[in-house]
Amino acid sequence: MESVIISYVTKALSEKPDFLAHTRRVVDYSKIIATTEDVDMDILVMSAWLHDICWYNRDLNTETLKTHAQESSIQAKEILEKINMSDKVIDKVSSTIVAHEQLPDNPSIEMRILFEADHLDRLGAIGISRIFSTWGVKTGLEIINKNILPQMETWFTTRKGFDLAREKIHFLNMFADNYNKEIIDSKRS
Ligand SMILES: [Fe+2]
Ligand SMILES: [Fe+2]
Repeated sequence: MESVIISYVTKALSEKPDFLAHTRRVVDYSKIIATTEDVDMDILVMSAWLHDICWYNRDLNTETLKTHAQESSIQAKEILEKINMSDKVIDKVSSTIVAHEQLPDNPSIEMRILFEADHLDRLGAIGISRIFSTWGVKTGLEIINKNILPQMETWFTTRKGFDLAREKIHFLNMFADNYNKEIIDSKRS
């Protein structure tokens, strides 16, 4: 089943290579995090492949960012219906996808893992380059300072998720410290 979904997603996102690369990393992170958790792998892997599927025909901006989890879940539902998945599977995958940006109260383990895998890709060198290439330097710095640095340590609750995040959290803190130091130094000279 995974291979059917991989070929669908690869084709759909072929003109959005950054989103496809992000999706692949999120699938890989999800599989790694799942190794220490009791999880339904089929639900998790399908959700990870389809979690950002709506970007194939959407442009990223602050408005579409707010609605994309919901939109991707609707599109995922349609795709899974076409390949005759059961209603139970479709409901689980779509609710897991909806939660990847903002977890509900009492999230399922699949929701938590997808959330962590997706948020891991906002940290580290790849995360920084994605933020700046998408939003530019000024808005990118605001996102890092307001939305990532103050919250990132609360995002990870699974053992593997926290392990994977530790080095990236350290790296992003170092990046922010160095950036601020260079700005201060440049104002002095
Ligand atoms: Fe997303
Ligand atoms: Fe994502």
